[in-house]
Amino acid sequence: MPEPLNIVVGVTGGIAAYKAVAVIRSLVLAGHDVHVVATDAALRFVGKPTLEAISRNTVNTDLYEGVAEVRHVAIGQAADLILIVPATANTIAKLANGIADDLLGNTVLASKAPVVIAPAMHTEMWQNAATAHNISVLEGRGVTVIGPASGQLTGADSGQGRMSEPEEIVAAALAVLRPKDLTGRRILITAGGTREALDPVRFIGNRSSGKQGVALACAAAERGAIVTLIGANLEVSVSATIRVEHVVSTLELADAVFAAAEEADVVIMAAAVSDYRPESVAESKIKKETQGERLTIELVKNPDILAGLADRRRDGQILVGFAAETERDADALLALGRAKIVRKGSDFLVLNRVGWSEGFATDGNSVIVLDGAGDIVMEASGSKTSVADRILDVLV
Ligand code: CTP
Repeated sequence: MPEPLNIVVGVTGGIAAYKAVAVIRSLVLAGHDVHVVATDAALRFVGKPTLEAISRNTVNTDLYEGVAEVRHVAIGQAADLILIVPATANTIAKLANGIADDLLGNTVLASKAPVVIAPAMHTEMWQNAATAHNISVLEGRGVTVIGPASGQLTGADSGQGRMSEPEEIVAAALAVLRPKDLTGRRILITAGGTREALDPVRFIGNRSSGKQGVALACAAAERGAIVTLIGANLEVSVSATIRVEHVVSTLELADAVFAAAEEADVVIMAAAVSDYRPESVAESKIKKETQGERLTIELVKNPDILAGLADRRRDGQILVGFAAETERDADALLALGRAKIVRKGSDFLVLNRVGWSEGFATDGNSVIVLDGAGDIVMEASGSKTSVADRILDVLV
């Protein structure tokens, strides 16, 4: 996937046009070059200055502007992706029939880039036979249709037709350009951090949010893999397209992983696993009146899931471990990673530095990937999504 992408965002005239601003902002902040083509009707809902400021490029609306540079075809020819958000019933009908009476229609016809649309309209219009037919024509032509969702519409009514949320649109649109190089591969991913109960209301846990593991699961699914995600106390939402099994403790995670690993071609242990658990869990809340000035909790060791997977690995199964270390010195960090991959017996180890303010629960990550011999095979820094893709590249 070329980075940054040249993305044409077509904005058409529905009330959901205000949400297009969030889509454009998110694409720009992800580093893409966004060119907005707005219809006249769209500009009745959002102002051109807003779209220009947010996209950081001139907004094109008029078929008869920029004629000398043949703008009506140039914009579409240069695009890596065309995303129409919102797509009204009228625009969908025009696209289905190849009508080019405005700049957006010309842009779509003049482009070989994938087209993604996010319809938004009232339920009756969405369910109308004409719209249903037009959508199936567009899908048959390879256009990706995102949503619409069900929910509150413009007025007091609700139903299907509400435009999908901006983050969902952005993720689904970018997914269209992902290589499908993991098609049919069964990948098991663990994410989050396990918690060990002390009593009915308290636990010992860690600060892992699950963001990196969930980003891996999403990226793998978008690249065609059949993904099973085992989430330990996830603090992030997961796309409905991914099968998630939720667990709390290390023993629950171990049971779930060993069962699911039998079917997996690849197991990625991104979860932060508690190495110890309280020897006994109090049946009722631990009270300070009965404990006095000190409280001692005996912990016993949990099984090492990754090492257990290595012991029972199927032929050809790839195991990937993660190692979150607080070591500041780069050489010492590498030495820890090399010792750990030998101890665990995995094929790869994703090494990252964590601290009070880095690694856990942040949006970015910086990793070094070691192979079984302890050699560095990849280093990546960036968003957890881009790091996820780089890790998957290594596995491919
Ligand atoms: N892991 C595991 N089972 C455990 C502990 C860790 O499967 N009981 C996995 C983690 O999911 C991760 C890798 O092993 O993929 C390394 O985890 P880490 O906590 O860094 O290593 P530990 O073996 O726990 O060693 P230490 O905490 O002493 O550094």
